[in-house]
Amino acid sequence: MIERIEALRAQGQDAVAAASTSEALEELRVRYLGRKAELPQMLRGVAQLPPDERGAVGRAANQARQALEALIDARAGELGAGELETQLREDTVDVTLPGAPVQPVGRMHVLTATQRLLEDIFLGLGFTVLEGPEVESVHYNFDALNHTPTHPARARTDTFYIERPQGPQPGSPEELVLRTHTSPMQIRAMEAHPPPLYVVIPGRVYRPDSDATHTPQFHQVEGLAVDEDITLADLKGTLLAFARATFGETREVRLRPHFFPFTEPSVEVDVSCFHCEGKGFLRDGTRCYLCKGEGWLEVLGAGEVDPNVYAYVPTTDHNAPGYDPEKVRGFAWGLGVERAAMLMYGVPDLRLLYANDLRFLEQFG
Ligand code: PHE
Repeated sequence: MIERIEALRAQGQDAVAAASTSEALEELRVRYLGRKAELPQMLRGVAQLPPDERGAVGRAANQARQALEALIDARAGELGAGELETQLREDTVDVTLPGAPVQPVGRMHVLTATQRLLEDIFLGLGFTVLEGPEVESVHYNFDALNHTPTHPARARTDTFYIERPQGPQPGSPEELVLRTHTSPMQIRAMEAHPPPLYVVIPGRVYRPDSDATHTPQFHQVEGLAVDEDITLADLKGTLLAFARATFGETREVRLRPHFFPFTEPSVEVDVSCFHCEGKGFLRDGTRCYLCKGEGWLEVLGAGEVDPNVYAYVPTTDHNAPGYDPEKVRGFAWGLGVERAAMLMYGVPDLRLLYANDLRFLEQFG
């Protein structure tokens, strides 16, 4: 009996060593150690043996089973690792290959295209394009833009604050926020360049709003012109050129009084409705749905740079004298890219711009 056990053990060892796949190995496990296999059967039969044989046979069978078990486990580890390796190699995907079916070359997203169009219009008017950080300090986003300490936009619920365990105290000028507008770049642009300055700043901005007309992230194009003899008429002329290039050659603009902490006077700028030609009603007599019968579409906020703002730019990075409110005057505007795109292309719902539905996106660009 002991001989048979040793024979089984030797046979098993050879078979395990020769097994070349995990599957083959599992078959061996069943063949040698499974419930109906010979070795376990013998172990179970030990009790029926004459008492003086039980000890030796039991021990031998037990040892043989344990040895085979250990061998199979070890071999399983080896084979498994190798097979994983092979599978990983075989599953490698060449991400540079064209898809199946081959996809047509893409196009610019309608928001990118609109932003570029706006940049081009202002480049044509002599402005330079600048970009700036989306993570901004309270100093640049609010303080240097003449916001009072209690301005509602500073509320922790109205602005995304960046919380850092060892960061500055809440409300301190160094605290970081996701910029709520592109206006902080007015200050950075003036710090970096002496006057005269003519810049536009496109980019992402963030506010914790989310509904049919607000997404938490959206885009603006800021404009800033600072020179010696700038008036509100220059602002109006610049925005009229923008309105005509964007919405049609026969557009007019209208300025309405408004308030922004960093402009004085501040205005909201309307463009005459291009759908009803500013009449407020359509040819069939019905009310214009686009301007809701107003004849005007609100497109942006603007104003003359508040002289207080220049005080936050004591000197420029080039050590040139800063901006002397007695000498320079300027105007600024902030224009929503989503709003412009929706008006230009008649997009009825803001969320379409972010849904990434190709059936929608393929219509533009
Ligand atoms: N930053 C203002 C906003 O986001 C817009 C603005 C820019 C107004 C520049 C005046 C001058 O609402």
